[in-house]
Amino acid sequence: MLAVAVLAAGKGTRMKSSLPKVLQPLGGKSLVERVLNATNPLNADRRIAIVGYCSDQVRAALADYPKIEFAEQVEQLGTGHAIQQLLEPLTGFVGELVVLTGDSPLLRAETIQNLIDRHRDHQASATVLTAILPDPTGYGRVFCDRDMRLERIIEHRDCNPEQILNQRVSTGVYCFDWQQLAAALPKLTTNNAQKEYYLTEVFDYLTSVYANDLADPDESLGINDRLQLAHAYEILQKRSRDKWMRAGVTMLLPDTITIDDEVELAPNVVIEPHSHLRGNTKVGSGTTIGPSSMLTNSMIGENCHVQFSVIEDSQVADHCRIGPFARIRGESMVGEKCRIGNFVELKNAKVGDRTNAAHLSYLGDATLGEQVNIGAGTITANYDGFKKHQTVIGDRSKTGANSVLIAPINIGDNVNIAAGSIIVDDVEANALAIARAKQVVKSDYYDQEGRKQK
Ligand code: UD1
Ligand code: CA
Repeated sequence: MLAVAVLAAGKGTRMKSSLPKVLQPLGGKSLVERVLNATNPLNADRRIAIVGYCSDQVRAALADYPKIEFAEQVEQLGTGHAIQQLLEPLTGFVGELVVLTGDSPLLRAETIQNLIDRHRDHQASATVLTAILPDPTGYGRVFCDRDMRLERIIEHRDCNPEQILNQRVSTGVYCFDWQQLAAALPKLTTNNAQKEYYLTEVFDYLTSVYANDLADPDESLGINDRLQLAHAYEILQKRSRDKWMRAGVTMLLPDTITIDDEVELAPNVVIEPHSHLRGNTKVGSGTTIGPSSMLTNSMIGENCHVQFSVIEDSQVADHCRIGPFARIRGESMVGEKCRIGNFVELKNAKVGDRTNAAHLSYLGDATLGEQVNIGAGTITANYDGFKKHQTVIGDRSKTGANSVLIAPINIGDNVNIAAGSIIVDDVEANALAIARAKQVVKSDYYDQEGRKQK
C-alpha cells in the first residue's frame, strides 16, 4: 500500500503575503496544486493534505482533487508535528508513506516514483530525496557515508560553521516505511534553534536510511519567499520552451517568451519576442505569433500572423492576419483569410471568411458574413445602457468609414453604407444606405481677411 502526505499547514511568513504560501500562484496553478499533480501518476491508495493555516481556504482550493483527504494541524509546531497528525488517520496502515512539502512545485512525478523504487530496492526504513546545491542556504544539510547511508540531517540554523558548508541538502521529500516512522514520531523533541518538532529528527531514531541524489537539482527548489517564486517560474518556463523548441517550434529571444503548461503548438510555429501563451491555447503549423502578443484560451489556425495583439477565449481560422494592435475576445470566431488590423476590437463576433476590418473599429455581438469590408472607424453600438444587442451584416457588404450601426440591426448582402452614416433601421440586400446630414456650402461667406460677411 502507498500513502502520500503533502505538508500544507504552514503560513509562509517569509512570503509576506495575505495568501497562505501553498496557494501562491505559479504559472496559472498554485504551488500545492503542482505538488499534487506530480503525485497523480503514483496512484496512491491514500492521499492526505495536512492543512492548518487558513485551512478552509486551502481545503476549498483542493476540494476537487480525486482521492484527497485532509488532516488538520491546528497549531503549526513544525514539520514533525505536522506528520504526527497522521498517526490517527493512518492507524493500522501498512506500507510506504511518501512525504512531500506543499512548497516544492518543480518536483517531477518520475522523480517521486524513482525514490519509491530505490527505497524498495534497499528495503529501507526511510529514503530521503537529496540534492547537491552550490548554494545550500536555508536547507537542512544531509550527512551520509560513502554508500549513501544517511547519518543525520541538520537544519541550516542548527549547523556549526563547518556543517554549514555541506552542499548535500534535504529536499523535504521522503519515502518512509510507515510503521517504523509511526514508532519514531512520538520521540520527537523541540531541542533545536527554532524550538519546533522537526521531521528531520526522526532520522536519529530510524536504522536503515538512505539518501538519493536528484539528477536535476532544480527540482528541489522550495519556495519560501518571492525571489524563489520568481526563480521557480523561470525554471518552469525554460522547461516549457525547451520542450517546444525540441518539438519544432522556433523562438526568437526565448527568454522573453512564456508558455503555460496546457498550451499546444504545432511544429513550424514561430514565436517572436515578448509573446505569452496562456491557458488552453493551441496554435497551428506555419503560424507566427508576435512580436508582443498575448493569447489566452484561444485557438489559432495554420499560416496566420498575429502581431502586437491580445486574443482571449476566441478562435481564428487559417491564413489570417491579426494586428498590429488588435484585441479579440469574448468567444469571437474569425473565419479563414481574414484581416483584423490596427486598433480593431472584436467581442463575441462571428466573422465570415475573407472579411476585413483593418482599422479602428469596435465589433461587438456581431455576425459578419463572407467578404465583408468594414471601413475604418466603424462601430457596432451594441449597448443601450441596459442590454446588449446583435448586429448582422450580410455577405459582400461594405461599411463606410466612421459608420455607426445601432443594434439590434440587420444589414443584408451586397449593401453599401456611406461613410459617416448612423444606421438605425435595417437595410435590405443590394441597397446603398446614406444617413448623414447633406453638405451645405455657403459661397462668399468670408472676405479676404477672413471676416464674416453680412
Ligand atoms: C524543510 C526541512 C529542510 C528541507 C526543506 C526543503 C524540516 C525541519 N526542514 O525546511 O530539512 O531542506 O524543507 O524545502 O523539516 N509545514 C506544516 N506545518 C508546520 C510547519 C511547516 O505543514 O508546522 C509545511 C509548510 O507549509 C511547508 C513545509 O511544511 O509546505 C515545509 O516547511 P518550511 O517551514 O518551508 O520548512 P523549511 O524551513 O523550508
Ligand atoms: Ca520550505
